[in-house]
Amino acid sequence: MKILVTGGLGFIGSHTVVELIEDRHEVVIVDNLCNSKIEVLDKIEKITKVRPTFYKYNLTILEDVRKIFENHTFDGVIHFAGLKAVSESISMPIEYYENNLISTLNLLRCMREYSVKNIVFSSSACVYGIPKENPIDEEFPSNIATNPYGRTKCFIEDILRDCYIADNTLTITILRYFNPVGAHASGLLGEDPNGIPNNLMPFILRVAGGETDTLKIFGKDYDTEDGTCIRDFIHVVDLAKGHVKAIDKVKDAGVHVYNLGTGKGTSVLELVDTFNKVNGDIVNYEFADRRPGDVPVNFAKADKARLELEWVAELTIEDMCKDAWNFRKHKK
Ligand code: UD1
Repeated sequence: MKILVTGGLGFIGSHTVVELIEDRHEVVIVDNLCNSKIEVLDKIEKITKVRPTFYKYNLTILEDVRKIFENHTFDGVIHFAGLKAVSESISMPIEYYENNLISTLNLLRCMREYSVKNIVFSSSACVYGIPKENPIDEEFPSNIATNPYGRTKCFIEDILRDCYIADNTLTITILRYFNPVGAHASGLLGEDPNGIPNNLMPFILRVAGGETDTLKIFGKDYDTEDGTCIRDFIHVVDLAKGHVKAIDKVKDAGVHVYNLGTGKGTSVLELVDTFNKVNGDIVNYEFADRRPGDVPVNFAKADKARLELEWVAELTIEDMCKDAWNFRKHKK
């Protein structure tokens, strides 16, 4: 199939492009490089021996999006592009709503104009807010994100449902990611945020790489076995393969929602200890106050994706830690 991948040079997007090409799909990428680098295109080519067509466009400009659809006949779209830093979204809500919503509306408008009927949307477990229990089922209340970034995901999910009501020939797949970490086994692709990172693994890598002295673990008095928060860390290559399964398996019109997680919770401290175990003792850490807004425990029920997409996460926490550090080392 010919697939348009928005945000295809970003962390999850680039890994997904590789898996799509390896599954023999033809890929066109649009990315405005606001949180990614053009060199990622060379790395994709190095891994797959294919250089996807690339547009450096901003999806908030409708005319530019239209040009892409004029030039190609797509079978489907995978929509990753969006701003995604939680703390930034709290201080810049207008920019977050403007960018994430207008991009999506422009994309959906062009899909309608050019009769492209299939979209996979990159959503997040943050739509579940603070869940009443774990593991989190797809049927749990899911319109209750706690910050503007998360609310853009909730709004877009609603917009997609409304688009389906208006056109019931659409095939819409919403993938709710848990905590993607790790990197491509080649060491060529990984998470490389511009500026100060927000998430745990990029911070661990900064400490391992000597850019920062000590990792702060936020909170050691949560009601968990070791007192630190629990997350469902998932290897980005597994996550990328989940998208290929969504493209290959979901054929029926409708709105289909899947959690992409491992189904297993791992504490922040366990992740850091595993990182040190597999990579040598290179991450100093100390405990700090809880980070406001953190959900204590968050992990997926992953059965629906296993049964319907025939997808399960296969890589381990050890793989995630080894591959993430391997990528960071190559970067030096
Ligand atoms: C956060 C967002 C989520 C978003 C996801 C990916 C919230 C409530 N959730 O998830 O909406 O989809 O990022 O961008 O903001 N930690 C440390 N030290 C650090 C960094 C993090 O101890 O230096 C801890 C955090 O307190 C948390 C865990 O590591 O307990 C994971 O944090 P993070 O990687 O930011 O992801 P989430 O909070 O799960």
